[in-house]
Order: sequence, then structure tokens, then C-alpha cells
Amino acid sequence: MGRKGLLSVLLIALQLTSSIAADLDWWKSAVIYQIYPRSFKDTDGNGVGDLQGILENVKYIKDLGVDAVWLTSIYPTNDADFGYDITDMRNVYNTLGNLTVFGDLLKKLHDEGIKLILDFVPNHTSNKHDWFLKSIMNRDKYGKYYVWRAGSMSEEYDAINKIKPPNNWAAAIGGGDAWTYDNFRKEFYLHQFLEQQPDLNYENEDVIKDMTDVLDFWLHKGVDGFRMAGVFALCENQDFADEVIGPDKKRLHEKTYDQPKNFNVLAKFRAKLDEYTRKDNVTRLMIVESNSSDFNTVKKYYGTKDAPIAHFPFNFFLIKNMNTSSNATDWARTINNWYKDMGEDNHPNWVLGNHDQHRVANRFTSEYVDLLNILILSLKGTVITYYGEELGMPDSIVRMDQAQDPLGKKSSYSDFLWESRDPARGPFLWNGNKTAGFSSSLKSWIPVSPSYWQINAKTQNDSDRSHLKIYKEMISLRKNLTLKSGDIEVIDVNDNVLAVYRYFDDNPSVVVVINFGSKEEKVNLLEKRKSLPESLNFYLASSNINDFKDKDNKPKLYKSSEITLPPKAALVLTT
Ligand code: GLC
Repeated sequence: MGRKGLLSVLLIALQLTSSIAADLDWWKSAVIYQIYPRSFKDTDGNGVGDLQGILENVKYIKDLGVDAVWLTSIYPTNDADFGYDITDMRNVYNTLGNLTVFGDLLKKLHDEGIKLILDFVPNHTSNKHDWFLKSIMNRDKYGKYYVWRAGSMSEEYDAINKIKPPNNWAAAIGGGDAWTYDNFRKEFYLHQFLEQQPDLNYENEDVIKDMTDVLDFWLHKGVDGFRMAGVFALCENQDFADEVIGPDKKRLHEKTYDQPKNFNVLAKFRAKLDEYTRKDNVTRLMIVESNSSDFNTVKKYYGTKDAPIAHFPFNFFLIKNMNTSSNATDWARTINNWYKDMGEDNHPNWVLGNHDQHRVANRFTSEYVDLLNILILSLKGTVITYYGEELGMPDSIVRMDQAQDPLGKKSSYSDFLWESRDPARGPFLWNGNKTAGFSSSLKSWIPVSPSYWQINAKTQNDSDRSHLKIYKEMISLRKNLTLKSGDIEVIDVNDNVLAVYRYFDDNPSVVVVINFGSKEEKVNLLEKRKSLPESLNFYLASSNINDFKDKDNKPKLYKSSEITLPPKAALVLTT
């Protein structure tokens, strides 16, 4: 080989190694474990979880094998929306702990090699936040920190005070007016969520600066990234004209959601994170919450290669589009659409649940727990697990008179069960003792799911096969190069059976086969993928498969041409 040939081989090898290295940046194949701190573990006996409870259970988190923890809001709050009406963005809510315990938790997680991601809530503060109290009085620079507008007099609008809001904008929570009149300032303020959550005014550079400083405060303490809540609602069209009302009487939100200016502000937040990333070459992660059902709108939150915004916007399409009626073709389409529509330069992510949705075990039924954990943990990209998903933890049962969530409180009796987010925010099920080991108090802020006697971490850890064991086995498999960096193909083998192929150079390939149907299926994997070997090794099966051992009690070999799966079952095989 001549010098030129050698050089190009070297160059290719170099490119390959650097692209693998880029793929291996910590967050790219990470599993992020989302914790709702009020509900993880209560150590002071008041029925509400706390940071000390997380600190004392880092071992559980470490044993899961996850790479990062994301804590939903830990900041002082007036509890109108539990952490999302913040009164001080640079502190810890005293119900949850204080900055010292926070420091201890951060250190402990870091010592265990686990990253910590915090919520950042840029759209609004609490109406009890010092900035808003000053803003009401139009004091100093704070007068312009929120979106204030005069209303207009109207005979017909309201018999009592006859002042009509500036336009027809509607709030995302509760669906009422997005404007509330303040009697002191004699103007309306905008709130795209609850009236206790006034929107910050991002037309004001001082607001952008102050909020960027909040990021700096936590980055300086050592946090590894942020999940930025509700960013779709950040900026508003400055014409303040009425929004179009859609066919179902809902606003189309074309003046209040996903506005062009959102991306400019978010790019500034990203620049702050990158400032820290550059110091030590460890990526500070930026995840944003976009609410849109349109791939093209969601995609904008990635920014571009030259002007990056988020590392990724949450992929809510598995939550929005999939249900128990979805067959293998639907699953394949939704997964492949994300890969295709987001493009090669943008990093994928997979989410099955969070504190705003009913739990997987309820939305899909418990039969789906292994299937879905196995599925998303086999996909290329970052995976987010909502605490308890590893156990197939079900929703809590919450009566109307026990309602905490404002969405539930605002809903009618008939809508309550569906609208309330309390059931998904129930205490973690540690063991089969009373209160599931969550608290020394029998009265937790949300009732413990009555299934704790059967479904809990201790029982599942102690048994040979369980949802938890399967979850952990999948995470171990993700540590291999094939799942970390390998290519992926997601195929519907037939209407009911989905196959995920992962392959990477000479490393063993991984083949996941899932039967979403309601009867036994026998499939020939070679029909759609001729390059597969004739037999495949067993790695893992969902809890409802029991015949994976041969007569010598060794995991059996599976014939690629003849794989049999019971209904709602999954197999993980390797070459
Ligand atoms: C985010 C949170 C949600 C909260 C909303 C309003 O979307 O996930 O729980 O209600 O922000 O602040």
C-alpha cells in the first residue's frame, strides 16, 4: 500500500473512532431516571418524600444501572402546582430539604458515577415570587418582568367589573382565560398555566439575564443539566391578537406556543450550559419539553448544527400516539418516524411516562410492562424512565376529596379519574410493609397504591425473575457497544410482531422480538432479514415466557426461522 493509501486508511480509522467517541458522550446512550421527590422516600415522617430519602437510597438507583437522575422541581413553591409555581429559583423547598442536603445528594450521586439533572421552569414564577410582588407595584425594573396588559371596558363581558381581558388567549391548565386582572396594578397579567403562575416577559432582556443567572447558580454547584419545563409557552406574538378557535372550541395557540423568539431565548440558555461544557469537556445536558404533535415543530427545538438549542426535545409520540389498540405496524411507524423526521444529526430519545401522564401499567395494562421496558431500552438514543416504571408500578387510587393536583381539582367528577395527575405521582413502592416502606406516617400526601403488597422493589429484587430484574438485565445489555452505538432497524414482521435489530461491526447483534397481538405468533425472522444466522442465543424474556431453557436447564438456542411468542411477550436474542 502506498503512502496515500495508508493515509486514507488511517483517516477512515480516525473518523470511525471519533464518531464512536462522539456516540459515547455520556448522555447519548444514557438511561435517565426521573424522580418526583415528594414521592420517592419520606425520612421525616410528614407523609411527603424528601431529598434525604433520595440520598439514603442512592444504592437502589445505582443498582438499576441508570446513568443520570432527573429531579422534578425541588425549589421553594407555594404548592399551587407542586414545584411549578416557584417562589425562589435558587433554593430548595424546605419540605424537601435544604441546600446542604442537596449538596450531599449531588456529591453522593457523583461519587457513584451518576449525573444529576434538575428541572428549570423558565416560563413563569409563582405569584408569590418577590419579582411578581414588586411587579404588581410596578416597582423598579420588576414592573416589566411579567406580561401586563390593560383590558377594555365592555357592557356584556362581566356583569360585575365589566373589564374584558386583552384577548381570547386561554390557559393550558384548566382551559380558562390566560389573563387575570390585578386590582392593585389595575391591569391583566398573562398566565399560560394557572393564575398563580404569571408568565415572565421574555421581551425584557433583564429577565433573560436573570434566568440565565439561575442556570449559572446551579451549574456552578455542579449539576449536569436541565429539563426545561413548558418552554413551548415561553414567548408570545407581540401583536396580542386573538387566537383562532379550532373545531373542538380549543385555541390553536398560534400566538402563544412555539413562537420564533422561543428559540432565540433557548439558544442563550444553551450557550450558558456550553460555557460549562467547554471548561471540562463534560456535556451539560439540555432537554426541553415541547408539547406539539407536529414533528416539524418539535424538531425546531434541536436548533441546527451551527446554532444548537436543546440536546433533545422530549419525544412524547409514544405517549401521544400509542395505546393498547396499536399493533406492531403502528409501533414500528411511530419509532421509525422519529428517526426519519428528526434526521441523522439530531439525537433520538424515548419516553413512556412522566408525572403528567397516567402510568404505563394503567395506560397500557400491566401486561405491557416488560414489553415496553424491553422495547425502549433496546432502541438507539437516550431513554427516560419515570420512577416505578421499572417495577410496573401502577397508579395510586385517589379519591376526589384527596385531590392535590390543580388539574384534578378543576375537573368534574366524571373527568376526575382521567384528568388528575395525582395517581401517577404516588409514593414509590419499596416493600410489602405498610405504606410500602415509603413513610412512617400512614397518611402520605397521595395514597400509596394498594398493590404494594404484591408489586414492590423488595419482592422483585428477591425473586429470580421480575419486571425489575428484566429492566436491570436490559440496562446491562445497553452497556455493550451494540446497543450503545450500533445501527438499528425496526421492522413489523407481521401485524402483531415487532422486531428490533441492533448491530455494530463484529460485535454480537441483538434481536428483540415482541408480540403485541392477543394470540400466540410463530414468525420466520429470516424472511425479512436474510443475513441473520440460523440460530440465535437467548438473552432475556418477558416474565410470561417460561420455556427458554432446554432439558439440561441451559438457555436454549432459538431458530431464526421459527420463533414462537405467546401474546404480549418479548424475547431478547443475540447472535
Ligand atoms: C411542566 C410540568 C407540569 C406543570 C407545568 C406547568 O409541564 O411538567 O407538571 O404543571 O410545567 O408549570
